[in-house]
Amino acid sequence: MEFSRKFHAIEALISAIFLLGFLGSSVAERRAVSHATSTISFPALNCRKHNAVLTDFGGVGDGKTSNTQAFKAAIANLSQLAADGGAQLIVPPGKWLTGSFNLTSHFTLFVHKDAVILGAQDESEWPLLPILPSYGRGRDAPGGRFSSLIFGTNLTDAVITGNNGTIDGQGAYWWKKFKENKLTETRPYLIEIMYSNQVQISNLTLVNSPSWNVHPVYSSDVIIQHLTILAPVDSPNTDGIDPDSCTNTRIEDSFVVSGDDCIAVKSGWDQYGTKFNMPTKHLVIRRFTCISPDSATIALGSEMSGGIQDVRAEDIAAINTQSGVRIKTAVGRGAYVKDIYVRRMKMTTMKYVFWMTGSYGSHPDPGFDPSALPIIKGINYKDIVADNVTYSARLEGIEKDPFTDICISNVNIKLTTKPKELQWNCTDVQGVSNRVIPDPCNLLPEKEIDCPFPEDRLPIEDVKLKTCSVSLSSDNSYLLYS
Ligand SMILES: *[C@@H]1O[C@H](CO)[C@@H](O)[C@H](O)[C@H]1NC(C)=O
Ligand SMILES: *[C@@H]1O[C@H](CO)[C@@H](O)[C@H](O)[C@H]1NC(C)=O
Ligand SMILES: *[C@@H]1O[C@H](CO)[C@@H](O)[C@H](O)[C@H]1NC(C)=O
Ligand SMILES: *[C@@H]1O[C@H](CO)[C@@H](O)[C@H](O)[C@H]1NC(C)=O
Ligand SMILES: *[C@@H]1O[C@H](CO)[C@@H](O)[C@H](O)[C@H]1NC(C)=O
Ligand SMILES: *[C@@H]1O[C@H](CO)[C@@H](O)[C@H](O)[C@H]1NC(C)=O
Ligand SMILES: *[C@@H]1O[C@H](CO)[C@@H](O)[C@H](O)[C@H]1NC(C)=O
Repeated sequence: MEFSRKFHAIEALISAIFLLGFLGSSVAERRAVSHATSTISFPALNCRKHNAVLTDFGGVGDGKTSNTQAFKAAIANLSQLAADGGAQLIVPPGKWLTGSFNLTSHFTLFVHKDAVILGAQDESEWPLLPILPSYGRGRDAPGGRFSSLIFGTNLTDAVITGNNGTIDGQGAYWWKKFKENKLTETRPYLIEIMYSNQVQISNLTLVNSPSWNVHPVYSSDVIIQHLTILAPVDSPNTDGIDPDSCTNTRIEDSFVVSGDDCIAVKSGWDQYGTKFNMPTKHLVIRRFTCISPDSATIALGSEMSGGIQDVRAEDIAAINTQSGVRIKTAVGRGAYVKDIYVRRMKMTTMKYVFWMTGSYGSHPDPGFDPSALPIIKGINYKDIVADNVTYSARLEGIEKDPFTDICISNVNIKLTTKPKELQWNCTDVQGVSNRVIPDPCNLLPEKEIDCPFPEDRLPIEDVKLKTCSVSLSSDNSYLLYS
């Protein structure tokens, strides 16, 4: 922390000059002096007592030098301060190439708006992790999986934020390998936080992830807000945000353009998910915008074998997207998707507004239980408008295992110039509808009803963030202690 200490001294000097200026001289001089620092305020679960900058640990922001060791050394060092008010690590302006690194508890990673963290393309920079127990194998290959670029496990109180700094996974390398069928391990994600509680991921731009972008798994009390997530719409499996076997999660004020589902709610895969038995529940998604021409705005599944319950989505926009809130399941997946509430969605240029799939075939291996039928029940949609739509609904339940208690009310769908003739294609579903245009299928008979949306608040909605700050020198390159 040599530089910081030096600047601490300089800051003292500046303060002294400021004081002299204040006592003796003009307003103009005073203003010049006060420009010597820039203070950025930001909301976080907790503020930290200690600060450091990546350059204190030998970081080089030239876009070419690997910073993996700098990140590891910084976080190892700062982890010693967890019990003494915690620490924050500032990634200053520059291009910071790095392989995977691990976060620590009571810690904030702050990425400055002119900083770009670049994912290394050298595979030796990405350690392999064991497969997720609730999946039984990797998604891309049966073997292990590369650690995500930013990884954390068994943490309490971890914050990844910035004032719109960028994390660029440089995913093209991995997408090519995937498309050429050359992967022997599963591609890394951009951010994965496992077995943790009190997690915040906010005010960042995430681009070109090798695979999923944000994967909180086996975690609770997770706040994700103000993210901009960008990937080419034809990039493989670049899901935006995937809460997976998580309790109490709040996703808000975010925008995703991607090659896969903008949000995919998950809880493990077939017999492995059943055995691990950890649902995703108490999830709030609000003020969220999606563009994904070949995927869903919000997918529930397909990996749902630990169960998905109590999802509340509101004020959602979708543009040029394949479907709205889509359920994906199949025989063999077991568990349930229930108590799902969606209101105030606005969609433009959609293939499907409503889509439920009971035959989502992909299984981890032939060992799934063919008698494990999923229970899909209590699915509520209301106050929805959609424009330029090809199919209003494709609701496909499972034979002898219908999807029940579906409620759809106050929906106005305008069709494309070339709509499909069968607008509501319903099989093995049961429910009701009210004030829906065009007329729903006869499996959803009309009933005077306003579909429910819970009136209580979830505890995660009441978590208030504190106002924290970071002070940098006026050129934003060095930290000043305050
Ligand atoms: C890491 O932490 C120790 C205190 O535990 C401190 O003395 C040392 O200077 C730090 N290292 C760096 C590179 O800042
Ligand atoms: C991060 O932690 C995991 C689990 O402890 C470990 O397997 C992995 O090697 C660590 N990654 C890095 C980059 O140190
Ligand atoms: C993390 O927590 C999980 C679940 O409690 C536990 O099984 C695992 O051993 C822990 N890992 C570490 C590195 O502490
Ligand atoms: C975080 O993003 C929101 C929405 O764009 C913005 O209002 C807020 O100022 C941002 N915070 C920081 C620290 O940049
Ligand atoms: C953050 O940066 C991205 C990429 O440059 C941009 O699209 C987005 O509008 C920015 N967000 C804010 C709040 O400035
Ligand atoms: C309407 O949707 C069609 C695809 O069905 C698309 O080609 C067309 O551009 C959309 N029109 C508008 C005005 O967005
Ligand atoms: C209706 O849905 C069923 C089941 O998903 C499908 O097999 C069938 O082809 C669909 N029919 C039309 C006309 O789209």
